[in-house]
Amino acid sequence: MDQKTFYITTPIYYPSGQAHIGHSYCTVASDAIARYKRLQGYDVMFLTGTDEHGQKIEIKAAEAGVTPKQYVDKIVADFQALWKLLDISNDRFIRTTDDYHVKAVQKIFRALYDRGDIYKGKYEGWYCTPCESFWTETQLKDGKCPDCGREVKWAEEEAYFFRLSNYADRLLELYEKQPDFIQPESRKNEMIHFIKQGLGDLCVSRTSFTWGIPVDFDPKHVVYVWLDALTNYITAMGYGSDDDSDYRKYWPADVHFVGKEIVRFHTIIWPAMLMALDLPLPKQVYGHGWLLFGDGTKMSKSKGNVVDPVILCQRYGVDAIRYFLLREIPFGSDGVFTNEALINRINSDLANDLGNLLSRTTAMAQKYFGGHIPAEREAEPLDDELIALAKELRAKCDAAIDGYQFSSALTEIWKLVSRTNKYIDETMPWALGKDETKRARLAAVLYNLCESLRIISILLTPFLPNTSPKIQQQIGATPEILTYDAASEWGLLSADAVITKGDTLFPRIDVDKEIEELNGLIPNTSAPKEKAPEPRKIEGLAQIGIEDFSKVELRVAKITACEPVKRAKKLLKLTLDDGAGQRTVASGIAKWYKPEDLIGHSIILVANLKPAVLCGVESQGMILAADAGEDDVKVIFVDEIPAGSRIH
Ligand code: MSP
Repeated sequence: MDQKTFYITTPIYYPSGQAHIGHSYCTVASDAIARYKRLQGYDVMFLTGTDEHGQKIEIKAAEAGVTPKQYVDKIVADFQALWKLLDISNDRFIRTTDDYHVKAVQKIFRALYDRGDIYKGKYEGWYCTPCESFWTETQLKDGKCPDCGREVKWAEEEAYFFRLSNYADRLLELYEKQPDFIQPESRKNEMIHFIKQGLGDLCVSRTSFTWGIPVDFDPKHVVYVWLDALTNYITAMGYGSDDDSDYRKYWPADVHFVGKEIVRFHTIIWPAMLMALDLPLPKQVYGHGWLLFGDGTKMSKSKGNVVDPVILCQRYGVDAIRYFLLREIPFGSDGVFTNEALINRINSDLANDLGNLLSRTTAMAQKYFGGHIPAEREAEPLDDELIALAKELRAKCDAAIDGYQFSSALTEIWKLVSRTNKYIDETMPWALGKDETKRARLAAVLYNLCESLRIISILLTPFLPNTSPKIQQQIGATPEILTYDAASEWGLLSADAVITKGDTLFPRIDVDKEIEELNGLIPNTSAPKEKAPEPRKIEGLAQIGIEDFSKVELRVAKITACEPVKRAKKLLKLTLDDGAGQRTVASGIAKWYKPEDLIGHSIILVANLKPAVLCGVESQGMILAADAGEDDVKVIFVDEIPAGSRIH
């Protein structure tokens, strides 16, 4: 049977300035999908590239005193080096200056002209040079470009036009018949609205500059950069060349990942062009959100305010950056990049949760069994929950990945990481290790930890391609038990596996010191300091003396597990590690927090509060939270302070 194919693309990037973390975002996301689909057994085609023509690049090159080709060659090399650094596994890289692409675009232009879908006319309108777009008077926003907000100038030229207006009805019909053609849903509504306002024909040639693909039958015209660029998705597969076998194999693309501001080009112009050429349409266009700075502005190379991913990879490693991008921001929404958020993610999720799980497991396997876990193992019912969660994980990740929800997939994986850490606390291998008669039980516990890590490592591979092999090597897992099929099966690690303690996966970072250094290297990325509110008047509040305060024992505790309370919608049941042991606390914060928002965080616990039974849960203390606004409660997190620390 033929292997099922999966074709995914990123936008092709303008090599007009330095590649930044915003570009990396879409490329890393596409890479995670490509890797996940390969893991699932698909024959994947993953395409990225550069969009090299247009007036903007012509101007930049002139300013730099080089030819446009010399100008882009240098930046394209930087893009390619960055993708290599970020471990991007693209199968192909297209440059729109590649000869085969240039010829194919000329053929496509001519074919559209021959069919009457392109005709010659005269263009008058408001032109935005950075966006390479013409606008009508009514489309302008406050007299400026509605896309980027910059100045526009009046331009008139003889030009070729694409009969986009003919396709309005077919496009609306497409959205209706193929409801997930545009994702997320909200972007579809924007497109419907745009079309219903009236679609004009599209100017698809320029005579005001020369850096573009010449129209071969009328060479004073160059092809409009968007028509040139959009066709890359088929020309890279050989469409319009002698060998179009890949085109036949992979087209239509399963998904085009694009930033939200270019959804319009991909869901109106691109399908209309394909309709005109009588070619199949891509199955889906997914418009993701932007990476913003803490003050809400978009990172953009034309504004010169970008975060350099190379610096971040050098300091924290590629996988930490990949993890942050995929975990922090739900795909489809905008997300904020701050140095603080990055470092907190690295410290709490990667160093504390995952890194510690591996190092504790391998250290104990070494200490108690010299790295060979005995085959004689004694199971207990306590193991069942962990095993069930691990076996279900693959299906949960599959579902999240089907909807391109990276953050949800990683959240699911981290639930197993947390559950496995909790299993260590529950089974207390250090106590078992002291009792000779408990060796078989200890062996089972350590084996289960390794099995859980094996499944975690398989499903993490698409996201953290450097870290997963390190985990697999340390637990002694061999390739045949690291497949997609093996990710939903328990008990595959052989009794011969040799478990070794390796290097720390993610060293913990000293937050304050690091932030200070990082702010010097990458300005404008620190979380904005919130203005302190006016101190509340405390008149009327009964005052207490220090002796009263000192009766309250405040301790830092780490939330190791959390679940809703069936009988009370408002309550969450928290399991806390208070430094001396486990305790349960019921807290009325279910309206503001989901369990996964809390697990792994450290909070302040009133440790000497009399226990009380709340809706069937014995609550052994209380956690501190603030009234942060009308109907808003925020738990006070103190993740940097070890569990058990006294607060006074
Ligand atoms: N060349 C066109 C795309 C042609 S595709 C046929 C283009 N290039 S671009 O370099 O300006 O942008 C490429 C992609 O990078 C876009 O999808 C854009 O959304 C993305 N990003 C650029 N800055 C970004 C952020 N700050 N955050 C997230 N993605 C952003 O448009």
